[in-house]
Amino acid sequence: MEVPRALVQVAQRARRVVVLTGAGMSAESGLSTFRDPENGLWQRFSAQHLASAAAWDEDPALVWAWYVWRFECVGEVQPNAGHDAIARWSERTDLAVVTQNVDNLHERAGTRSVVHLHGSISAFRCSACERPHAETPVLPDEPVERLAPPRCATCAGLIRPGVVWFGETLPDRAWVDAVAKVSEADLVLVVGTSGIVYPAAGLPAIARSEGAVVVEINPQTTDISDMADLSWRETAARALPALVDAVHDGECP
Ligand code: APR
Repeated sequence: MEVPRALVQVAQRARRVVVLTGAGMSAESGLSTFRDPENGLWQRFSAQHLASAAAWDEDPALVWAWYVWRFECVGEVQPNAGHDAIARWSERTDLAVVTQNVDNLHERAGTRSVVHLHGSISAFRCSACERPHAETPVLPDEPVERLAPPRCATCAGLIRPGVVWFGETLPDRAWVDAVAKVSEADLVLVVGTSGIVYPAAGLPAIARSEGAVVVEINPQTTDISDMADLSWRETAARALPALVDAVHDGECP
């Protein structure tokens, strides 16, 4: 596959790389994105009714069942060639991933520096006292629409998924880390995000204002395309291995 020459050159020179990822990064692993017209989750389910604090207050059993289903979907898939390529690159370069994804596929591929802006689907906690909840939830054999969330062993509060819902603010630490990383980067790759959910969608512009080169990898045009230095209309699992090979081929062993 032909890798844009300008991208290879800037990637070979880059001392610090940040890869900002969205749902498209995990699409070739078999996880749905949110807004893709065909099978995006928000085409099939209502975000308002399932991924918001208001939905949880209204019907925790409906929300819990849905997140346990998504948790099991993540457990059933594997990191794709894109996740693996990023992990390979991170072994030889100062590279960090900043992700909007709540799956753990970057970590399972071996990338150590991962900032989760929207939380993690495998981190459960008490919705009252915030204590972490270690027990792994299991879906009954028959798919159910509602499933009672477990109770906190300390305060009997309802256990919730450790994700950031619509209407909630991002975890401070994650946001501060993300801004620091993109501000110090030479190259920021924006992979598989539609660029419409803020504040995450504002990170490429912050990076650019601090002097980083911003490159988008996405088969479709997005809200970030106009401000990117380069847009490569390719998929994550095809483009990233080709890019990392090209970067390493050019390097002295
Ligand atoms: N490789 C690269 N990009 C892809 C691929 C692929 N194989 N398949 C789809 N894409 C692109 C789509 O073109 C689209 O631009 O991934 C993007 C997915 O966009 P969204 O579904 O909007 O996902 P994302 O940008 O991550 O959503 C942001 O919104 O729903 C909330 O909290 C949720 O973190 C999520 C946030």
